Amino acid sequence: MKKEMKQMGKVVGIDLGTTFSAIAHVNEHGQEEIIPNAESDRITPSVIMFEDDLVTVGKIAKQNASAVPEQIVEFVKREIGKSKEEFSREFEGKTYSAEELSALILQKLKQDAEAHLDAEVTDAVITVPAYFKDAEREATRNAGKIAGLNVLHVMNEPTAAALAYGVDVHGSDQNVFVFDLGGGTFDVTVMKVSGSKLEMIATNGDHRLGGKDWDDQIIVHVAQMFEEEHGENPLQDLHAYQDIQLNAINAKESLSQRQKARIVCNYNGKSSRIELTREKFHELTNDLVQRCSALCGVVLSEAQMTWEDIDLVLLVGGSTRMPMIQEMITEISGKEINPQEVNPDDVVALGAAIQGTLRQIEEQANDTSDTNALAEIPEAVKDRFIGPKGELAIKVVDGATHHLGVVLVKSDAVTRYVHLMIPKMTPVPCEVQDTFYTVTDNQPGVQVEVIQGLEQDQLIDEIPQFEEIYKLGECELGLPSGMPANTPFDVTYKYNLDQTLEVTAKGPGGKTANVKIDRSTLDEAEVEAAADHMENLEIE
Ligand SMILES: Nc1ncnc2c1ncn2[C@@H]1O[C@H](COP(=O)(O)OP(=O)(O)OP(=O)(O)O)[C@@H](O)[C@H]1O
Ligand SMILES: [Mg+2]
Repeated sequence: MKKEMKQMGKVVGIDLGTTFSAIAHVNEHGQEEIIPNAESDRITPSVIMFEDDLVTVGKIAKQNASAVPEQIVEFVKREIGKSKEEFSREFEGKTYSAEELSALILQKLKQDAEAHLDAEVTDAVITVPAYFKDAEREATRNAGKIAGLNVLHVMNEPTAAALAYGVDVHGSDQNVFVFDLGGGTFDVTVMKVSGSKLEMIATNGDHRLGGKDWDDQIIVHVAQMFEEEHGENPLQDLHAYQDIQLNAINAKESLSQRQKARIVCNYNGKSSRIELTREKFHELTNDLVQRCSALCGVVLSEAQMTWEDIDLVLLVGGSTRMPMIQEMITEISGKEINPQEVNPDDVVALGAAIQGTLRQIEEQANDTSDTNALAEIPEAVKDRFIGPKGELAIKVVDGATHHLGVVLVKSDAVTRYVHLMIPKMTPVPCEVQDTFYTVTDNQPGVQVEVIQGLEQDQLIDEIPQFEEIYKLGECELGLPSGMPANTPFDVTYKYNLDQTLEVTAKGPGGKTANVKIDRSTLDEAEVEAAADHMENLEIE
C-alpha cells in the first residue's frame, strides 16, 4: 500500500499566502514550474466563500466579496495557530478553525494541480514565514493533513525564495538579502549561498505588516474624503467596505505603474470620485515604509553585516512591486535593484517544490525496504538533484528562527531566569544537552519549563504574558527521595528540521522524563474528523 502511494504520488511545493497562494512542482525535465489553477492563473486568491453546501476558493470568491461579505473569509494566515476559542468562523451550522479554513485553500490548490498534472498529489512542502513559532508551524502542518496531504516539511519562506533563486546556478559564494513583503506579512532574511549549500544567517519579521496595511491607508483616506463631501461614513456598511477595499487595491496596484489613480466610492445613494496621486499615497504610507526600513537594519546587525557584505537583494512578495519600496531599498542599501531577477509571485512556491523533491529523494534513498525506490525518479531530476556520490546536490541548512530556552532558578530558590539551550540561528536539526542542579535538599522533582523567544538571563517575573506567549510546555522529572541540594540532572533538547521539539530530562538512577512539545490546537482525532468532513465537502 505504502509503496503504491509512492509510485503514484506527486510531491508539490505550496506557498500558502495571506492574500494569494501558489503551487509548484518539479517536472520530468528536472525543472521547477508553477502549476496553474482551474482558472488558468498562476496564483490563487486565499479567499473562501461559503454558499449552502458549496465552498468556493480563489478568484470567484474574491470577486463576490463585496456582494456577500458575510459569506467570505480572507486573511486566515493571520489567525493560524490560534485555538478555536480564539478564532473561528461559522457557516451552515459548522464551526471552522483556522486550520480547517487554511485546509480549504490547500484542498483547492491540490485539486486543481491534480487535474492539471493528471496525477494524484500526495506529498507537499508548505511554506511559512520564518518567524512563525511552533504553534503556527504545527497548525500549518495540520492544515495540510486535513487537506489530505503528507506534509514532508514546513519550510521557511525566505529559504524557499533563495533556493528558487538558485544555489546551483550562480557559482560563487554570495550573501543574499531576501526582502519579502506580501499581503499580510513582512520578513527579512540574510541567506548565505556557498557552493551547493544554502544557509540562513539571520531573520526577523513583522507578523502584521503587509500590502493590506497599504490598502487600509487608502480605505481610510477614501472614507474621509467621502465623509467630508457627504457627511456620512461609508465604512459602517460591510458591503460598502468590501467595495472600497477592492477599489483601493486596484488603485494601489495601478499606482505602481502610473502617477495617478481614481477611486469611485458609492454609498447610500451618494457617490464620490477621489483622485489619489502617487505622491499622496507615499505620504499616507510613509510610516509603513519606515517600519520596513528599520527592520532591514535590525536583520543586518543580527547577521553582523553591513550592506557592503550583501551581494544581492532578492525581492519577494507582490508588495515589493511598489516603487516606494524599491526606492527605499536602493536608498538604504546603495544597491541596484533588479526586479526582473525573479518573479516575486512565484519564487516561494518554486523553492518549496525543489525542497519537496530533495526531501522525497532523501526519503526514498533512506527507504531500505524498497531498494528500487529511486528508479522511479526521472533521470533529469536525478541528474540535477543527486550528486556524484549519491548525496543530495543541494544542501539546505535552516536555522532555528527563535531562541529556545529553559527556566532556571537562582540559588535564592525564588528568582527565575532564562537559560538558552538552542540560540536563534543554530542550524537545525540539532541536539543540545546540558547539566543542571537541584536547588534544595530533598527536592521531590524538577520541572523543566520550555520557552521560546526570550533572551538569555531575562527575568521571568518581569515578562508580561509569560505563560501565554513564551512558554511552550514543560517536562516533569520526579527525583528519588533524600537527594541533597545540587543533585545533577541532564536536560536534552532535540530540535528537528520542522522546528518541533523533544525534551528529555534525566535524573540520578537513570530516571527519565520525555515530552514532545506539541503546541497544536487540535488533537489527532480532531484532525482526522476535520479531514473526513473535508472529503465530503464540494470545493470549487
Ligand atoms: N503591482 C502591484 N503593486 C502594488 N502591490 C501589489 C502589486 N501586485 C500585487 N500587490 C500586492 O501584493 C500583495 C500580495 O502579495 P503576495 O501574493 O506576495 O502575498 P501573500 O503571499 O499572500 O502574503 P504573505 O506572504 O504575507 O502571506 C497584495 O497586497 C497585493 O495587493
Ligand atoms: Mg508570501
